Amino acid sequence: MRKESHVTDLNPQAKQMADESMVRTLDAQARAIWPQEIPLLRRYALPDGPRILDAGCGTGEGSSRLAELFPGSTVLGVDIVDHHLALARSRYAKLAPRLTFEHQSIYELQSADRAFDLVVCRHVIHSIPFPDRVIAELVRVTRPGGSLHLIPEDYGMLHFQRGPLDPSEFWHVAPAAMSAKTDTDLHIGRNIFSILSRMNLQQITMDYIVVDTLRVPRETFATIIEAWRDGYVEIIGQTTPISSEQATTYFNQTIANIRDPQGYAVWMVPVVSARV
Ligand SMILES: C[S@@+](CC[C@H](N)C(=O)[O-])C[C@H]1O[C@@H](n2cnc3c(N)ncnc32)[C@H](O)[C@@H]1O
Repeated sequence: MRKESHVTDLNPQAKQMADESMVRTLDAQARAIWPQEIPLLRRYALPDGPRILDAGCGTGEGSSRLAELFPGSTVLGVDIVDHHLALARSRYAKLAPRLTFEHQSIYELQSADRAFDLVVCRHVIHSIPFPDRVIAELVRVTRPGGSLHLIPEDYGMLHFQRGPLDPSEFWHVAPAAMSAKTDTDLHIGRNIFSILSRMNLQQITMDYIVVDTLRVPRETFATIIEAWRDGYVEIIGQTTPISSEQATTYFNQTIANIRDPQGYAVWMVPVVSARV
């Protein structure tokens, strides 16, 4: 069992989250994922004028799309990176005051209990320690009968073709080592069902968005991996047996695999929902 006292940093990816490459990552990820996410979001039985929280909203890619998808909604996006919040406010000013952004930590939200009909948390809980504590906080602010909608990433769910290097060797080693060093779970996609079950949440569903070279434009997919490379090779060199230079070579081979008109590559993105 991990002990809280061993963790001094609740945001071990703070540098990567605040980097300019993260703005590119979130833009390309949203373009790749959102079209397949819309039908999953439309499943929720929301009241008129639903109140929606986007926890760890980053630059507002998800928050703004939620506000547009549900025209009568009010959407609050919260994050701890102020320049992401500033970018989100300026990019989506036309959706204000229905869409607002605030500096809040998802470990300690400022909202009242049961304040939201739908609580969304995309691409966050793989990168932070004590995800169960964050999920408990998300449950606290969801009304009974309301829904949680999570994208818990899993870095064992990516598959790329062999080139001079075998990318599966990289993905087998790097996420496990980085998870151990940063007290996070970069395979939380496969563990989230158990976490939600233990919390007695109801109607848990697991779906997968398939980001592959057939469903998503190659250039969008390649842009995601380029942005990951630019943001993450340094921390991979610091926390895993793979050096930054080796990581760069693996990423570059993957990008070439995606751009190859006859190549195939896939990233399976888990989408999990539950009723409170
Ligand atoms: C990979 S980004 C995802 C952004 C957004 N959800 C999206 O889908 O585009 C993860 C975000 O979680 C935020 N984050 C990390 N720890 C947080 C915390 N304790 N409270 C609020 N946000 C946090 C980071 O600052 C970052 O903006």
